[in-house]
Amino acid sequence: MGDPKLPPGPGMPKLVQTLAWQTRPIAFFKKCRARYGPRFTLNIAVPPKQVVLSDPGDIAEFFNAPPDVLRPGEGASGITGPVVGTNFIVVLDEDDHMTRRKLLTPYFHGDSIKRLAALVNEVVAREVDTWPRNQPVQLYPKLRSLTLEIIVRAVFGLRPGPQLEELKRRLIAFYELGGSPFTVIAPFRRELGGITPWARFLRRRAEADELIFQLIDERRAEGRAGDDVLAMLLTLRNEDGSEWTHKELRDELVGLFTAGHETLASEMSWMFVKMAREPRVVANVIDEVARGNGHEYLTATVQEVLRWRPVLSTSAPRYVKKPIEIGGWTYPAGVGLLSSAYLVHHDPSIYPNPYEFRPERFLETPPGVYTWLPWGGGRRRCLGARFAMLELETVLRTVLERCELTPGVPGPEVARRQNIAITPGAGALTVLRDRPPTGKEAPAEAISA
Ligand code: HEM
Repeated sequence: MGDPKLPPGPGMPKLVQTLAWQTRPIAFFKKCRARYGPRFTLNIAVPPKQVVLSDPGDIAEFFNAPPDVLRPGEGASGITGPVVGTNFIVVLDEDDHMTRRKLLTPYFHGDSIKRLAALVNEVVAREVDTWPRNQPVQLYPKLRSLTLEIIVRAVFGLRPGPQLEELKRRLIAFYELGGSPFTVIAPFRRELGGITPWARFLRRRAEADELIFQLIDERRAEGRAGDDVLAMLLTLRNEDGSEWTHKELRDELVGLFTAGHETLASEMSWMFVKMAREPRVVANVIDEVARGNGHEYLTATVQEVLRWRPVLSTSAPRYVKKPIEIGGWTYPAGVGLLSSAYLVHHDPSIYPNPYEFRPERFLETPPGVYTWLPWGGGRRRCLGARFAMLELETVLRTVLERCELTPGVPGPEVARRQNIAITPGAGALTVLRDRPPTGKEAPAEAISA
């Protein structure tokens, strides 16, 4: 029996719901939506009870609720706390959150985007040339290594070399264990003499932290200014004039790495899964690039990819601290509320023929604030959205200019969860062949924002 104070939802045992949510997130949500309507209550192993919202009216109220009524930071910290700690923007609430947002925003917007564009163009151009041709290749690991290098260089200000490679290795080693149920679900966090997954996670995290602390000390000793996030964080002082501690700096740096590589690699993977199956769209992109006249269709294609496969199945849960009425329901304190971008993006009353891939939708009507939600919304909207668009557009254009794509597996790729993001089940298995020159190529023009 469900709770009569909350919208109805599946009555399956908690463990079955948790497994469905973990292993088949899209299929599970679609079934719940079809059976219970645009809002339904889940009973999963990560407390508290969570209500999933997929009506744009509900979502507008949800995004705009006062921060002392719905608390996203508290909601996010339960799941991501072991990886990102207690000082990353995502786990902060109210004034602390807004102060941090103001500090970080300039590093992913405006002039900084131009600087980041140079980094993105360099890494993408170099990497794409190394990908094997004429055989099936899993693009997901390649894209992950590409996004990893970009975010680590943007955040830590490292140049290519052994230190960058070692940092990437240590970050990935602990991050991989951070998504396991033994880390995410608090009661499973047991060390038991050092043999459990949790104990292994703690060891790997300590190894990554050791190197990060060393980098912080080196940068402090050098006194080198820079345009990376670490350089900016090192200039900050607390109210009493003290510097940020190693732990505070580490949380923000690791948090940005967490937010900014796997999400992107997964989104890029879906993008190429689709491009290998949509020759009409590819031809339009190539034609636009050859004309050298803007990138409207390219942008619309990326927007349609983000609509078709938003890689975060939900927003972070917002914990209800004071009762709030949304869409005719009064949610009591103690409940978690989530929005589902996937369900909104596949609602036929909002997007006619939602399973058809058609970038033209966004040429006809720009994405709506509460109907196109790959970046979430309100005061928690993705801080890296412009940066992510830049990376997505650059990699799409570079690959399509150089390669023809065909699927490496017959039929569609199923969606599966990889840590926080939803990825293609076969790793975006694709065959790349060098594209013969058309003779109409436009001069290489970097995408700059
Ligand atoms: C395709 C790639 C990405 C997707 C789909 C994505 C998606 C999202 C979403 C949905 C949220 C809001 C979560 C919520 O409301 O609970 C968010 C927040 C955030 N994202 Fe992204 N993101 C991506 C890339 C990036 C990148 C590259 C960065 C790095 C700078 C980044 C940094 C952040 C930060 C810092 C927040 C928290 C904002 C806040 O709490 O004020 N994201 N992202």
